[in-house]
Amino acid sequence: MARGPRWRVDQERVSIRFSPAAIREAQGRVRVSAFTGCPTPPPERYDAHMSTTDANRMFQRQAQRADQAADWLRHLDLRAGERCADVGSGPGYFSLILAERVGPTGVVYAIDRSPEALAYLAEEMQVRGVANIQTVHGDAAAVDLPSGPADAAVVAMMLHHTSDPAGVLRNVARLLRPGGRAVVAEFHPEGTGEHGAPLSMRLPPEAVRAWCEAAGLEVRAEERTSPEHYLLSLRLRPPSGHTSPAGAHR
Ligand SMILES: C[S@@+](CC[C@H](N)C(=O)[O-])C[C@H]1O[C@@H](n2cnc3c(N)ncnc32)[C@H](O)[C@@H]1O
Repeated sequence: MARGPRWRVDQERVSIRFSPAAIREAQGRVRVSAFTGCPTPPPERYDAHMSTTDANRMFQRQAQRADQAADWLRHLDLRAGERCADVGSGPGYFSLILAERVGPTGVVYAIDRSPEALAYLAEEMQVRGVANIQTVHGDAAAVDLPSGPADAAVVAMMLHHTSDPAGVLRNVARLLRPGGRAVVAEFHPEGTGEHGAPLSMRLPPEAVRAWCEAAGLEVRAEERTSPEHYLLSLRLRPPSGHTSPAGAHR
């Protein structure tokens, strides 16, 4: 896959932004006017199916939104050795951050319907010497994990790209272990509309909350993480009648 010179310039910034210190710093920063995504196109030019968005460009855009990972990680409380699904990973900039967090004894499942995006991530893993990500090609509303349930899942900026957001959330619930954590991040319909999805295509938090609850994902917190974004912090309810050992659920 061709790498243009812009990628090389950005690669430097990517590695700087990857550092735990940069992520910690981002956690405490007020980001009122920080870059929060690419400029919003008119609805008729928005690539809802991402069929014309090339993986290299998407990776660049993900790198520009790197600060958002700090918010997701704060809610996910990911630990070394855990198994985390990155649902709708795209070319996997954030999968790489998650992989760093779970370490060599953990695993990240990067799930996407785009083979090009996953091929880009596979090449990126090779270049960076990352071995703890498994790419999973398929529809997030139906896909299975190669082995066992996940401890955590991230569903970031993807639900508004799918025709079946409720189905995706039902499947996320199916992929998680009881008590497993998840973060859903989306563009806010009352945002400024300057960055990211057009306002008319954004999903109201109330609708996403209702789909989560219906799927068995308890909403633990809702946070407006930037003028354009919000997240829901979730936990899979244990099956009724199930009592967990003390401390088993974080
Ligand atoms: C805007 S990108 C977001 C990527 C990444 N989560 C992030 O925050 O940068 C949305 C991704 O979701 C994927 N996607 C959308 N619907 C999907 C589905 N039903 N199953 C699997 N992947 C899907 C797209 O292929 C695309 O890579």
